[in-house]
Amino acid sequence: MSEIKNISISYREFQNHNELNAEDQELIKVSEEAARSAYAPYSQFRVGAAVRLESGRIVHGANVENAAFPSGICAERTALAASITNFPDDRPVTLAISAISDDGSVAEQVTPCGNCRQVIAEEESRWNRQIRILLAGKNKIIELDGIGQLLPLQFNRSSLRPDRP
Ligand code: THU
Repeated sequence: MSEIKNISISYREFQNHNELNAEDQELIKVSEEAARSAYAPYSQFRVGAAVRLESGRIVHGANVENAAFPSGICAERTALAASITNFPDDRPVTLAISAISDDGSVAEQVTPCGNCRQVIAEEESRWNRQIRILLAGKNKIIELDGIGQLLPLQFNRSSLRPDRP
Protein backbone atom coordinates (compact mmCIF):
# COMPACT_ATOMS: atom_id res chain seq x y z
CA MET A 1 0.00 0.00 0.00
CA SER A 2 1.27 3.47 -0.82
CA GLU A 3 2.25 5.80 1.97
CA ILE A 4 2.92 9.54 2.18
CA LYS A 5 6.36 10.28 3.57
CA ASN A 6 7.42 13.68 4.84
CA ILE A 7 10.83 15.29 4.75
CA SER A 8 11.30 18.28 6.99
CA ILE A 9 14.33 20.49 7.26
CA SER A 10 15.48 22.64 10.10
CA TYR A 11 17.94 25.48 10.08
CA ARG A 12 19.11 28.24 12.35
CA GLU A 13 18.42 31.87 11.60
CA PHE A 14 20.50 34.74 12.98
CA GLN A 15 19.22 38.31 12.92
CA ASN A 16 22.65 39.87 13.24
CA HIS A 17 26.25 39.11 12.27
CA ASN A 18 27.28 39.75 15.88
CA GLU A 19 25.50 36.54 16.90
CA LEU A 20 28.07 34.55 14.89
CA ASN A 21 31.58 33.78 16.05
CA ALA A 22 34.53 35.78 14.73
CA GLU A 23 35.56 33.05 12.26
CA ASP A 24 32.12 32.97 10.64
CA GLN A 25 31.92 36.75 10.52
CA GLU A 26 35.29 36.81 8.78
CA LEU A 27 34.14 34.16 6.29
CA ILE A 28 31.02 36.13 5.47
CA LYS A 29 33.09 39.30 4.99
CA VAL A 30 35.31 37.44 2.52
CA SER A 31 32.24 36.20 0.62
CA GLU A 32 30.91 39.78 0.44
CA GLU A 33 34.25 41.04 -0.88
CA ALA A 34 34.32 38.17 -3.37
CA ALA A 35 30.88 39.22 -4.65
CA ARG A 36 32.39 42.60 -5.53
CA SER A 37 34.80 40.83 -7.87
CA ALA A 38 32.02 39.01 -9.74
CA TYR A 39 31.97 39.28 -13.52
CA ALA A 40 28.23 39.68 -14.05
CA PRO A 41 27.69 42.06 -16.99
CA TYR A 42 24.52 40.26 -18.10
CA SER A 43 22.55 39.74 -14.89
CA GLN A 44 24.25 42.41 -12.73
CA PHE A 45 23.65 39.88 -9.96
CA ARG A 46 26.88 39.64 -8.00
CA VAL A 47 27.38 36.60 -5.81
CA GLY A 48 30.40 35.68 -3.70
CA ALA A 49 31.27 32.47 -1.89
CA ALA A 50 33.97 31.71 0.65
CA VAL A 51 34.98 28.26 1.87
CA ARG A 52 36.76 27.76 5.16
CA LEU A 53 38.96 24.68 5.05
CA GLU A 54 39.89 22.53 8.02
CA SER A 55 43.32 24.18 8.20
CA GLY A 56 41.59 27.55 8.68
CA ARG A 57 42.50 28.71 5.18
CA ILE A 58 39.77 30.59 3.28
CA VAL A 59 39.25 30.21 -0.48
CA HIS A 60 36.82 32.46 -2.32
CA GLY A 61 35.02 32.64 -5.65
CA ALA A 62 32.45 34.73 -7.48
CA ASN A 63 30.10 34.23 -10.41
CA VAL A 64 31.68 34.58 -13.83
CA GLU A 65 29.21 35.10 -16.67
CA ASN A 66 29.57 34.63 -20.40
CA ALA A 67 27.90 35.95 -23.57
CA ALA A 68 27.03 32.30 -24.17
CA PHE A 69 24.88 32.24 -21.05
CA PRO A 70 25.18 28.55 -20.10
CA SER A 71 28.97 28.94 -20.06
CA GLY A 72 28.70 31.17 -17.01
CA ILE A 73 29.46 29.72 -13.60
CA CYS A 74 28.14 30.46 -10.11
CA ALA A 75 30.12 31.74 -7.14
CA GLU A 76 29.69 28.54 -5.14
CA ARG A 77 31.22 26.44 -7.90
CA THR A 78 34.14 28.77 -8.61
CA ALA A 79 34.96 28.75 -4.88
CA LEU A 80 34.71 24.97 -4.57
CA ALA A 81 36.61 24.36 -7.81
CA ALA A 82 39.39 26.60 -6.46
CA SER A 83 39.56 24.89 -3.07
CA ILE A 84 39.37 21.37 -4.51
CA THR A 85 42.05 21.98 -7.11
CA ASN A 86 44.44 24.06 -5.00
CA PHE A 87 43.97 22.33 -1.64
CA PRO A 88 42.65 18.86 -2.44
CA ASP A 89 43.61 17.45 0.97
CA ASP A 90 42.13 20.26 3.04
CA ARG A 91 38.50 19.52 3.89
CA PRO A 92 35.85 22.24 3.40
CA VAL A 93 34.14 22.90 6.73
CA THR A 94 31.95 25.96 6.10
CA LEU A 95 30.72 27.68 2.94
CA ALA A 96 29.43 31.27 3.16
CA ILE A 97 27.41 32.81 0.33
CA SER A 98 26.59 36.51 -0.12
CA ALA A 99 25.29 38.81 -2.82
CA ILE A 100 25.87 42.50 -3.45
CA SER A 101 23.19 44.93 -4.65
CA ASP A 102 23.66 47.40 -7.50
CA ASP A 103 24.49 50.15 -4.99
CA GLY A 104 27.30 48.02 -3.56
CA SER A 105 25.57 47.17 -0.30
CA VAL A 106 24.97 43.61 0.93
CA ALA A 107 21.80 42.11 -0.59
CA GLU A 108 19.23 39.67 0.82
CA GLN A 109 20.54 36.14 1.21
CA VAL A 110 20.68 33.90 -1.84
CA THR A 111 20.33 30.17 -1.85
CA PRO A 112 22.43 27.98 -4.17
CA CYS A 113 21.02 26.87 -7.53
CA GLY A 114 20.42 23.20 -8.28
CA ASN A 115 23.75 22.74 -10.07
CA CYS A 116 25.64 24.17 -7.12
CA ARG A 117 23.70 22.01 -4.65
CA GLN A 118 24.80 18.96 -6.61
CA VAL A 119 28.43 20.10 -6.59
CA ILE A 120 28.33 20.79 -2.85
CA ALA A 121 26.81 17.32 -2.37
CA GLU A 122 29.69 15.78 -4.32
CA GLU A 123 32.24 17.47 -2.08
CA GLU A 124 30.38 16.30 1.03
CA SER A 125 30.32 12.75 -0.27
CA ARG A 126 34.04 12.89 -1.21
CA TRP A 127 34.82 13.57 2.45
CA ASN A 128 31.82 11.77 3.89
CA ARG A 129 31.30 14.87 6.03
CA GLN A 130 28.77 17.68 5.92
CA ILE A 131 29.69 21.19 4.80
CA ARG A 132 28.09 23.87 6.98
CA ILE A 133 26.43 26.53 4.83
CA LEU A 134 25.87 30.18 5.78
CA LEU A 135 23.44 32.10 3.57
CA ALA A 136 24.34 35.62 4.54
CA GLY A 137 21.85 38.40 3.84
CA LYS A 138 21.57 41.99 4.95
CA ASN A 139 18.72 41.24 7.36
CA LYS A 140 19.42 37.69 8.40
CA ILE A 141 21.85 34.81 8.16
CA ILE A 142 20.66 31.26 7.63
CA GLU A 143 22.85 28.41 8.88
CA LEU A 144 22.40 24.93 7.44
CA ASP A 145 24.25 21.90 8.80
CA GLY A 146 24.82 20.51 5.33
CA ILE A 147 23.54 20.26 1.77
CA GLY A 148 21.06 17.53 2.77
CA GLN A 149 18.75 20.30 3.94
CA LEU A 150 18.74 21.83 0.44
CA LEU A 151 19.04 18.62 -1.55
CA PRO A 152 17.17 15.74 0.02
CA LEU A 153 16.96 12.34 -1.70
CA GLN A 154 20.15 13.22 -3.50
CA PHE A 155 21.96 11.31 -6.20
CA ASN A 156 25.56 10.88 -5.14
CA ARG A 157 28.40 8.38 -5.27
CA SER A 158 26.53 5.91 -3.12
CA SER A 159 23.63 5.97 -5.61
CA LEU A 160 26.06 5.13 -8.39
CA ARG A 161 27.59 2.20 -6.56
CA PRO A 162 25.20 1.22 -3.78
CA ASP A 163 27.38 -1.78 -2.90
CA ARG A 164 30.54 0.36 -2.47
CA PRO A 165 30.19 3.23 0.01
N1 THU B 1 24.36 32.86 -9.12
C1 THU B 1 25.37 32.48 -8.28
O1 THU B 1 26.55 32.74 -8.54
N2 THU B 1 25.03 31.81 -7.16
C2 THU B 1 23.76 31.57 -6.74
O2 THU B 1 23.56 30.99 -5.69
C3 THU B 1 22.63 32.01 -7.57
C4 THU B 1 22.98 32.55 -8.90
C5 THU B 1 24.73 33.65 -10.31
C6 THU B 1 24.59 32.95 -11.62
C7 THU B 1 24.41 34.13 -12.57
O3 THU B 1 25.69 34.64 -12.90
C8 THU B 1 23.70 35.17 -11.73
O4 THU B 1 23.91 34.79 -10.38
C9 THU B 1 22.21 35.28 -12.00
O5 THU B 1 21.60 34.07 -11.93
